[in-house]
Amino acid sequence: MNNIKRYLVTSALPYANGPIHIGHLAGVYVPSDIYTRYLRMKGLDVISVCGSDEHGVPITLKARKEGVTPQEIVDRYHELNKKAFADFGIAFDIYSRTSGKVHYETASEFFRKLYDDGEFTEKTSEQYYDEEAGCFLADRYIMGTCPHCGNENAYGDQCEKCGTSLSPNDLINPHSTVSGSKPVLRETLHWYLPLDKYEPWLKKWILEDHKEWKANVYGQCKSWLDQGLHPRAVSRDLDWGVPVPVEGANGKVLYVWFDAPIGYISATKELTPDWEKYWKDEETKMVHFIGKDNIVFHCIIFPSMLKAEGSFILPENVPANEFLNLENDKISTSRNWAVWLHEYLEDFPGKQDVLRYALCASAPETKDNDFTWKDFQARNNNELVAILGNFVNRTLILTGNYYEGKIPEPGTTTPGDDAVLKEIGKIKDNVETSLESYRFREALKEAMNLARLGNKYLADEEPWKVVKTDPERVKTIMNVALQITANLTIICEPFLPFSMEKLRGWININELDWNKAGSTVLLPAGHVINKPGLLFEKIEDEEITRQTEKLLATKKANDTAGSKATPSKDPITFDDFSKIDIRTATILEAEKVPKTTKLLKLKIDTGIDVRTIVSGIAEYYEPADIIGRQISIVANLEPRKIKGIDSQGMILMAEDRDGKLVMVTPAQNVGNGSMIK
Ligand code: 2FM
Ligand code: ZN
Repeated sequence: MNNIKRYLVTSALPYANGPIHIGHLAGVYVPSDIYTRYLRMKGLDVISVCGSDEHGVPITLKARKEGVTPQEIVDRYHELNKKAFADFGIAFDIYSRTSGKVHYETASEFFRKLYDDGEFTEKTSEQYYDEEAGCFLADRYIMGTCPHCGNENAYGDQCEKCGTSLSPNDLINPHSTVSGSKPVLRETLHWYLPLDKYEPWLKKWILEDHKEWKANVYGQCKSWLDQGLHPRAVSRDLDWGVPVPVEGANGKVLYVWFDAPIGYISATKELTPDWEKYWKDEETKMVHFIGKDNIVFHCIIFPSMLKAEGSFILPENVPANEFLNLENDKISTSRNWAVWLHEYLEDFPGKQDVLRYALCASAPETKDNDFTWKDFQARNNNELVAILGNFVNRTLILTGNYYEGKIPEPGTTTPGDDAVLKEIGKIKDNVETSLESYRFREALKEAMNLARLGNKYLADEEPWKVVKTDPERVKTIMNVALQITANLTIICEPFLPFSMEKLRGWININELDWNKAGSTVLLPAGHVINKPGLLFEKIEDEEITRQTEKLLATKKANDTAGSKATPSKDPITFDDFSKIDIRTATILEAEKVPKTTKLLKLKIDTGIDVRTIVSGIAEYYEPADIIGRQISIVANLEPRKIKGIDSQGMILMAEDRDGKLVMVTPAQNVGNGSMIK
């Protein structure tokens, strides 16, 4: 993109139905904040917008469960999350919310424009209706038996056991989670955005014109586009959301994923009367920071909406991250498996930068990554304390000791000094290149290289020894070390804003201009610095143990809560049982089913034949690891087609408390085809 005049940075609007945790920070908000701070420091015109996403079924479900209104739920979490972001220095220009007046108006107008322009198709379909509760049931309000794997707790949109996406009409024995009653089918009218119409344009815009997007983002878009797009309903029968602004559409609201991204526009409107220049001028570069589960909405659906509307710009990049796990387990709000920001601050007051640092250093940029407390401790003790803190501390203490805090006049520099001074500029350039390509881990590593450079310089020059023989030379050495320190306050600012502010206070400067980084005269001779403190403190083992014990307690509580086994099913006769052909078999081949995340296609030897079974275990087993494994199967289950493949039977799996599936394998190898009775 040439001629960039201004930047519009958006960060995914988090749902206001739970607090913010480290996964949110690492995936979206730390990177977006680093990027925005960097652009601001360059003196560019940039705004960063975010806010709470306050609609959607999970919010209404939570409200119902707590016996309060959805508004009460979102009010609670909006304030909590707004504060958490501010506490961690995530410096949005505005943190708005989608239950606000401006948003309702903006989202309604947007819908209305598309409606008036004939951009929607209308369709009446049969949907489940709860006669007892008197409402249509959104997908998550219906549960029933999965037609693919028999899971009795499948949702109307997906079976979480076998991973198949479902529509409510697929469920066997559906029941309403609102009243428990059996829902009936009723006709209802909805508006659809014909995504198929935008497919050729999207293919060109993404697959040809945006080859530079991150591989995970580009890959996911390509996979959606290769599968072909279909019209998407943009309205729902619900009583919480932005009402559909069409006469006679009572009881219908905009689908949350239609209104939420419009929240970026409303937030900008609230921020500045000049909002249109950020949204309607081709010379604005818009960047969406999101997590991987939001890719399709930001790369395919929202751009199609913007294109249909016609007057808005499109995102220039969507640097989505993958997911962060915690101590080898998926972060989960319902299982309380998370590090919540407000709790972290209670346990580690004043240590926001340590978390920002640890999360950026192991951000899930190209693949899912794991946060462990041990790693957090190591990042702090071995990097922030031992590299950055150590260099700054030595430099400032020596300056105090030798010159009472007055920056010494340098003498003639040696070629070694010159090389070090030149290196500052190179590091700045490297950080810049990495930041502009959204490689934040690499950028942080480069920034830390400046502190490494400083440490090496002091170790090589040994001013504490030279001072005894050549105090004049030491003035030059210390001047160089002080220029590195001053440069650190600029180059590390986007990553570690709290600590760099402190450091600027100690060296008594106020310089925040990125363009000045690389300068070797940031601290002029004669300038007086203040008495320093400690930039970072060691984190002791006990503090880490306290955190891991807290997680262990959570695990135990979850285990106890889930330790009640499912009640026994209705009795069956021995005859019924003997009809089931359960036997041992061996996996001969295994491969992922293309374009699915959960399915493996297995070739197995059953003792009677070699056959194919499709099983929803790809999340738990790598194909290469299970070849040769003996398993148990139901051999006489009616064959059925899964993703176009004939699956002949079912593999027996045990489900652990977290819903993870584990193969049921005989205690010793018994040969294939042995009957299990
Ligand atoms: O996944 C989520 O948390 C969504 N609330 C993100 C919405 S982003 C945008 F579209 F508002
Ligand atoms: Zn299933």
